[in-house]
This record gives sequence, structure tokens and C-alpha cells, in this order.
Amino acid sequence: MKVNGIPTRTIWPIEHGQAVGIIDQTRLPFEFVKEECVDWRQLQNAIATMKVRGAPLIGISGAWAMVLAMKEDPRDEAVHAVRAEMIATRPTAADLQWGVDQIVTAVMHVEPKERFRVAYKKAEEITQANVLANRAIGTHGAKLIAEIYAKKRAPVNILTHCNAGWLATVDYGTALSPVYIAFEQGIPLHVWVDETRPRNQGLLTAWELEGAGVPYTVIADNAGGHIMQHREVDAVIVGADRVTAVGDVANKIGTYLKALAAKDMEVPFYVAVPSSSFDWSIHDGKHSIEIENRSGDELRKVRGRDKDGRVTEVQLIDPQVNVENPAFDVTPARLVTAFITERGVCAPEFLTRLYPEASRRFVR
Ligand code: MRU
Repeated sequence: MKVNGIPTRTIWPIEHGQAVGIIDQTRLPFEFVKEECVDWRQLQNAIATMKVRGAPLIGISGAWAMVLAMKEDPRDEAVHAVRAEMIATRPTAADLQWGVDQIVTAVMHVEPKERFRVAYKKAEEITQANVLANRAIGTHGAKLIAEIYAKKRAPVNILTHCNAGWLATVDYGTALSPVYIAFEQGIPLHVWVDETRPRNQGLLTAWELEGAGVPYTVIADNAGGHIMQHREVDAVIVGADRVTAVGDVANKIGTYLKALAAKDMEVPFYVAVPSSSFDWSIHDGKHSIEIENRSGDELRKVRGRDKDGRVTEVQLIDPQVNVENPAFDVTPARLVTAFITERGVCAPEFLTRLYPEASRRFVR
């Protein structure tokens, strides 16, 4: 996507993998700042502190961290140690282990002196594949939006939670990709953007949509049910961090409540997801997916501009107050109308038909 007219991706190699460039997303939407990571620990820290975030981008960042690790020490013990540290960085998104293991699997077949070159090539390949997958998700999802428009003949209202736009991937996004493609096709639409406390990723979504010229309105997380009751939402589209073989979905905290309201109001609830976010080894999401608990300070403090326009952080909740900060929740498959994947759109019960290679790994 473009930032100030310049085509921009969220992650890029510098000097053939001597370093990796990222956007520091913790500074958005107030400041657009790029950063250069020269070793894998720096990229690991960027994942942990959410400078890079969003399941698909975490996966690709994990892969590039492994490339930087090969530069330092490509021997077996070192590769296994870095792998273990990397995948523990953020446990909920399936993509992190997927991305790290794409590199580990590729390099284990070759001599240590060849490993950096092989890792670099693989990382480039999966980075490009992510862009193509997201574009395909957009094309399939845009058809759903076009169908709604064909019936309604008025702007299509889509509600989204968190940020599953280009910032959460290498480019295009997952949940927002159908929005961008439908908008490119000239379909009139409008996006309700959940603020998404406590990290306010909705403000990243708003920043993206503003840049692309797509009409949107930011709402408090608690407003979605009311807006659905008043028939002002035609479809909910969210992303996913981990999807089980039966279609249970771990996604940003608050997604489950939106799915419940959508079910009650018979609003279609779509989950846009690339194959890297599936975990075919599990089925019961509620009991099998590890939910990342993040620091209570994310709830206690909030960043914004002060009256002089300076970006600052203020204490919203005093430090002695007990808080709990689960970062994700699980929406059961029964609340999901369909998945929008790079292979097409399908109801949860048909997922393993869409990914037949996965059914081999799934034991009921
Ligand atoms: O904690 P984050 O910001 O990394 O959260 C992940 C997400 O961006 C969302 O859960 C998103 O909806 C899925 S990732 C496309």
C-alpha cells in the first residue's frame, strides 16, 4: 500500500539480509517511523513489544529473524536455540512458529556455510507468497461485498475489529484486503472500526483506511452490538491469529462478543485468514489455544497527543489497581459464517476439504 504516495511494505531486507527494515507500529498513528534491525534479538524484541504485530507479519518477521540468526551462528545447536526463543515470543498466533519453521526446515538440509543464503532465499519467497495470498483473500472477499451491494444498492457497511490490514501482514492485509479490493472496484462501502482496547489497533485500521481514502468511522468497542441491532452492519470481517481444524478462531480480545452480537442479529460473520494461521493439529480452540496474557500496563496507560500536539503517555488506572489483560479470545466455529482464505470462501465444516493436505494431520 502507499504511504504519502510511496509504495510501502511492513518488512523488507536491507543489503541482502545484513539487516531487516520494519515500521515501528507503536509510534502509529501519530508518527510514521522506520527502524533497522541488525540482529535477530532486535527483531525478536520488535515482535515482543509489538513494533511489528499481526499474526501474518509476526510469522514473516520470525522468518527474517532466523535469517539474521544464520548470519551470526548457523550451526545446529544455535539454530535450535534461537528457534525455541523465537517461537516463545508471542504464543497465540500460529504464524510465528510457521514462519520460523519455514526457515529451520529449509536450512537443515544444507551445510552451515550455505545456511544464510538458503534462509534468505526462503524468507524472500514466503514474504512474496504472503502478499499474493492476501491479494487472493481480497479478491474472494470482494465478491461477498459485491453480492451484498447488488442486493442493497446502497453503501455496504462492514464492521471490523483490531487491525487486520496491511500493517498486520506484508501488504494488503487479511480482513481489510476485501475492503481494499471492493473499493478499487468502485463498490460504495463504509467501515465501522472498533477502537480495540487496550492497544487500540483500531486506530491503525483508521490510519490505513484514511490513507487509502476508504470511508470509515471509529467506534468504541462497546458500540458494535447497538449498531448491529439498528441494522447498520451488513457484514463483520475480522482476521485471525490461530484457527483450529474445525474452525474455532483465536483473534484479538473482543472478537467473541462481536460474533455473538452478529449471530443474534443474523449479520454474516467472516474470518479472513491465510493458510499460515491454521493449526491443523488441534480442534477445540477454547481448551487448546494458549492465550497470551500481556502486561497490565497496556490497560493502565494510554498514549495520545496532549493539548500542545506532543505525543505523550498518561496513566489511566493507578499502578496498585489489579488488572487482567488477556490479548485474545476464542470464537467458536458455530458463530463463524465462513472463512475467506486464499483458496476461496468456505463454511467451517468444509475447511479440511479446502485444505485436503491438512486433514492428514487432523485426528478427531
Ligand atoms: O496483538 P496483535 O496486534 O498482534 O493482534 C493480532 C491482530 O492483529 C489481530 O488479532 C488480527 O485481527 C489478526 S492478525 C491479521
